[in-house]
Amino acid sequence: MSSLDHSIPVPAISRAFEVVESSSNNKTATHSINVNEDDGDGVFLTWQDLWVTVPDGQKKGNRSILQGLTGYARPGELLAIMGPSGCGKSTLLDALAGRLGSNTRQAGEILINGRKRALAYGTSAYVTQDDALITTLTVSEAVYYSAQLQLPDTMTKLQKKERAEMTIKEMGLQDAMNTRIGGWGAKGLSGGQKRRVSICIEMLTRPKLLFLDEPTSGLDSAASYYVMSRIAKLDQRDHGVGSRTMIASIHQPSSEVFQLFHNLCLLSSGQTVYFGPASAANEFFALNGFPCPALQNPSDHFLKTINKDFQKDIEEGLAGVIPTEEAIDILTKSYKSSDNYLQLRSQVAEICKAQDSGALEKKSTHADFLTQCIVLTSRSFVNMYRDLGYYWFRLGVYVLLGIGLATVFSNLGTDDNSIQARGSLLMFVASYLTFMTIGGFPSFVEDMKVFERERLNGHYGATAFVFGNTFSALPYLALISLIPGAIVYYLPGLHKGYQHFIYFVLLLFACMLLVESLMMIVASLVPNYLTGIITGAGIQGLMILGGGFFRLPNDLPHPFWKYPLYYIAFHKYAYQGMFKNEFEGLKFDNNLDGEQVLRDKWQLQMGYSKWVDLAILFGMVVFYRLVFLGIIKTVKKMKPVVKAFMSVPMKQTTQIMENPCATPPQEDKIFYQ
Ligand SMILES: Nc1ncnc2c1ncn2[C@@H]1O[C@H](COP(=O)(O)OP(=O)(O)OP(=O)(O)O)[C@@H](O)[C@H]1O
Ligand SMILES: [Mg+2]
Repeated sequence: MSSLDHSIPVPAISRAFEVVESSSNNKTATHSINVNEDDGDGVFLTWQDLWVTVPDGQKKGNRSILQGLTGYARPGELLAIMGPSGCGKSTLLDALAGRLGSNTRQAGEILINGRKRALAYGTSAYVTQDDALITTLTVSEAVYYSAQLQLPDTMTKLQKKERAEMTIKEMGLQDAMNTRIGGWGAKGLSGGQKRRVSICIEMLTRPKLLFLDEPTSGLDSAASYYVMSRIAKLDQRDHGVGSRTMIASIHQPSSEVFQLFHNLCLLSSGQTVYFGPASAANEFFALNGFPCPALQNPSDHFLKTINKDFQKDIEEGLAGVIPTEEAIDILTKSYKSSDNYLQLRSQVAEICKAQDSGALEKKSTHADFLTQCIVLTSRSFVNMYRDLGYYWFRLGVYVLLGIGLATVFSNLGTDDNSIQARGSLLMFVASYLTFMTIGGFPSFVEDMKVFERERLNGHYGATAFVFGNTFSALPYLALISLIPGAIVYYLPGLHKGYQHFIYFVLLLFACMLLVESLMMIVASLVPNYLTGIITGAGIQGLMILGGGFFRLPNDLPHPFWKYPLYYIAFHKYAYQGMFKNEFEGLKFDNNLDGEQVLRDKWQLQMGYSKWVDLAILFGMVVFYRLVFLGIIKTVKKMKPVVKAFMSVPMKQTTQIMENPCATPPQEDKIFYQ
């Protein structure tokens, strides 16, 4: 229940120690203060003069999304951020959680327990506005896999399962346990149920600081109430974990849900209209000439008063009513000059002084790296099995293409024409069949979205993701190399002997792995279906052209095509390996032997064996995967650097801060004059 008492709890003060407080001018000061033992584990989050700006699309200027916000969130309390759509609720949550986009600039001070620091894993969680979930899993699978990834190895599998089931029940999803989440193309859970699955996943570790962006969108008022009340009351059940600090943005709470809020932050166009106890908001509006009509939900009244998106319609319909711009102006000015605001600033200062870093150092651990790799491999394997677009559809098309190739190149024979035919067949297999690997790109982009969400919440790292994705794909790639490979190899009658067939399949497998790795690199840089597929296809088109088939190696123009493309395109090694495997040891009519054909007709480098080509291809697979890993690791690390580079001094600020993780580490402070 909301409380009118707006001051920091003093009676429970029981422990005294010294803290070093960071001040905005980078000097440090020591204070001897007392801290509440009960709240020792809790997270006090404060923000002062928080500005967020983005470059203005048209002019070279900036647009302020958040304008000098100040506020706090305390353990055991639920802070609701409300305001019309586009007022900056998600931006405020992102800023507080350290997740702003790289094109934004942030100024002001965000402190955790009075200091700038990164939160340990499991201390904070963020349920984003968009649900990024693995659509092929059922609710219980999604939550259980997540439990295995997030919860420490000290817990048994049974305990993790129990935690997962309990959390599912807490969110009222017990009836949908075995329903697949579903996404585009396959209907599964409703929008509101998906929201609850996202919340479940983030609640598993019982985080001390919880950000929720629109947790109730898509839910009816009764479901909204149950979800919010469960969230609000969770810490009462989680004995021993300390009080939870909760910040939720919310669109339209019912009056029952509204009663659950302790504090309310009301925004309009990035400005604070009201910050304070939720129960006192009504009084604030009434005092400023906007009393809530009887029988009207207060939150509806607040939003209606400050929503200027439809101002014209409202003005037309309601003659004599104060225009919304004016109403907002009255309220923001009144708020800025109110005792409430002064009290808020002093409370923020008080919290900053009173808190210490010690209590948060206790890190909660998650599953170890090996467990994460195993769980991610198994989860990804199940997803690939159920997602028809990942491999099954491609297998079908490959089989059809294989039959097509087998009929076009039937009865190869050993005459002069068969030399060209064999070459063309092998070239088609090594380039076009592998080229089609880009068909799995959309599914992979979906996986990347889930990975991004889970990584931002600290569930696991990039290395475990790359391991999981690589190992889970291997059996499928082996299958789609083997079955179509056998059709293409045996029906037209390529070089007899099972060793030749094994080499052929291995090479096809390596090429598919390579194209997948290439597409992963593309996905990490261009995470969009259409542009990603076009980019991947363009790169491969160039490589095929420079691979030494359409223009023989000696005829390739030297700049770019021969040096360096011919040597870096994997097609060179694929063609050479395939050709050596096929022609070496073959005798053609007119006493022509295969080696001669390779040397004279295909202009191959004969100094090394076909196995070297295969080894180079596998080496390239490892290299490409490492590049992919490097990119996803660097992009994360580079973000704050890019942001710092883009940051410029802002009039209103004393400090600009970059926060790469949940909250900014102390050394991340960047000071501006
Ligand atoms: N990275 C960005 N670049 C440009 N504009 C942005 C960016 N992030 C947010 N905005 C703009 O800032 C404003 C606030 O966005 P935000 O997503 O915070 O709104 P919101 O209050 O969460 O809205 P909703 O209730 O619809 O989710 C919007 O006008 C949005 O277009
Ligand atoms: Mg939003």
